[in-house]
Amino acid sequence: MAELCVGLSERSYPIFIETGGLERIGSDLANRQVGKRYGIVSDDRVANLYGQRVLRALQDAGIHAQLFIFPHGEAHKTLATVGDLASQLARAGFDRKDALIALGGGVTGDITGFLASSYMRGIPFVQVPTTLLAQVDSSVGGKTGVDIPEGKNLVGAFYQPKAVYIDPSVLKSLDYQELLSGIAEVIKYGVIRDASFFEFLEKNRKQVLSLTPAILEGMISACCTIKADVVEQDEREGGLRRILNYGHTIGHAVEAASAFTMRHGFAVAIGMVAAAKLSAKKQLLSPADVQRISSLIASYGLPVAIPENLDREVIKAYLKTDKKVMAGKVFYILPKAIGSTIITDDISNIQLDEVLLPD
Ligand SMILES: NC(=O)c1ccc[n+]([C@@H]2O[C@H](COP(=O)([O-])OP(=O)(O)OC[C@H]3O[C@@H](n4cnc5c(N)ncnc54)[C@H](O)[C@@H]3O)[C@@H](O)[C@H]2O)c1
Ligand SMILES: [Zn+2]
Repeated sequence: MAELCVGLSERSYPIFIETGGLERIGSDLANRQVGKRYGIVSDDRVANLYGQRVLRALQDAGIHAQLFIFPHGEAHKTLATVGDLASQLARAGFDRKDALIALGGGVTGDITGFLASSYMRGIPFVQVPTTLLAQVDSSVGGKTGVDIPEGKNLVGAFYQPKAVYIDPSVLKSLDYQELLSGIAEVIKYGVIRDASFFEFLEKNRKQVLSLTPAILEGMISACCTIKADVVEQDEREGGLRRILNYGHTIGHAVEAASAFTMRHGFAVAIGMVAAAKLSAKKQLLSPADVQRISSLIASYGLPVAIPENLDREVIKAYLKTDKKVMAGKVFYILPKAIGSTIITDDISNIQLDEVLLPD
């Protein structure tokens, strides 16, 4: 078991990483007293798999809890779902002394966090992430929100959880492609911040992909340590936190150009290799390190090249409309060695074309 802390003065909170830890949430919450009663928010799939277990863990600890379920999928990460859940909470008599538990992937975490930030003008919540992406990324850092037809995550709030409970053993039921998609974000942390973690991922691929408990705990701890460190220094993404977007500038454009048929992590994998190549074009990163990044990504079964059938002009058009574009400038997070990055908008069209063209 590992215990980390996200240090944000009065908004600080612990992250517990423990195989089998799902059963211990009840006793921990009984001590922590985050809320009087708990609304466990989950999508239908996760509720079927783990809803009763978490409910029972809370009840066994003498805590009053109730499940609130919404349909799974990004298409339901909407204001309508938040409104529906708020109505259910109100009808069940939930008030300001009560709290929420986000039990699920990033969609559940984002919805529940946003709901918690606004229900009765704000009630506490805890995160119980069940996808790899949620365990290493979305459950830590306090970004919450929903999509609107005009764009993803356009309505939301920074709202930190009171605790994060990570049980890596729930990843056993996760679809393998979802697991791989999360691995892309894991690799991201190694490239941007931690060369020895990058090496750990090179050495332990088999154990990671076969979900060896000790290796998974170590891997998730390393990712959460980096995320916590970055968020502590820049909670609201004024500067440093942008390094977490490594691979996401070109990645988002590729994801959009595929009409979101490509999984997020797969697009990020392609984006990370493209950014490494851009960095090499600017003489910031050695060709050997580009190769190392690309080889690690490929070794996990993730894509490294933009599919030939995706129109490069469409990708370029999406790059210019990315929501992270500031004052008309597109920013790129470029590795300058494994474990360190810079942020720049100084990329020429020629450099971009060279990287976007099919190999
Ligand atoms: N807040 C942040 O900082 C942040 C960061 C990155 C991504 N996000 C958001 O996260 C979302 C993506 O998250 P996601 O990839 O976890 O998607 P998700 O929550 O939709 O989960 C993917 C699928 O896996 C299922 N599932 C979840 N856990 C499972 C388990 N243990 N076993 C079997 N099935 C399981 C879910 O029911 C769902 O169908 C996006 O909306 C994205 O915007 C937020
Ligand atoms: Zn991502």
